[in-house]
Amino acid sequence: MRLGIMASGRGSNARAILEAVREGRLQAEVPALVCNRAGAGVLDVARDFGVPAHLIVRGDFPTRTAQQRRMLEVLQDDRVDTIALAGFSAIFRPFFLEAFPHRILNIHPSLLPAFGGTMAPRPQADALAAGVKLSGCTVHLVTEDVDSGPIVAQASVCVRPDDTVDTLAARILEQEHRIYPEALQWFADGRVRVVDGIARVDPPVTAA
Ligand code: GRF
Repeated sequence: MRLGIMASGRGSNARAILEAVREGRLQAEVPALVCNRAGAGVLDVARDFGVPAHLIVRGDFPTRTAQQRRMLEVLQDDRVDTIALAGFSAIFRPFFLEAFPHRILNIHPSLLPAFGGTMAPRPQADALAAGVKLSGCTVHLVTEDVDSGPIVAQASVCVRPDDTVDTLAARILEQEHRIYPEALQWFADGRVRVVDGIARVDPPVTAA
């Protein structure tokens, strides 16, 4: 599997993925990391792991479409076949999604379909405000409907009465770092297919 990582922020999920690759838990090559925010921590992560980083910021392009065309070009030049969004802040144009059918994954810090459609730390804050007793994270395929693509993997965490957004987010993040590389390995092993909008893992996974 030739995995491209796309990220905009501090890059802890990118780091977890690259550690899994280094330790052989995730059988993939990572030829490129695309970042759309200058100064993002994930650029240091790429450097630490010797992964070529491409900084492709909106201001350098006349339109979002032109920016995404450049992203696509970079990833295709590196023969990327699977993409892991790891805290990536942009919404894709259809042409980008069509270039990687069922091969763009995202991690979201809630148990989807609850608390979708916003970026961290909103999902964690909204979960807390709603008083849910269970939250967690979801690895899903990316479609045109934000945070609504087929669910691949989920892990739950209990919400504690004294949780703040930060403490809840930190416990969810631990689970993100665990399940994201694992779910990506299912793709590397060819274990995931989408049937009628549902992601099926074969053989099935019974406990996350
Ligand atoms: C995580 O909360 C992830 O679930 C969300 O964005 C955040 C990225 O964090 N999609 P990091 O940059 O991977 O540390």
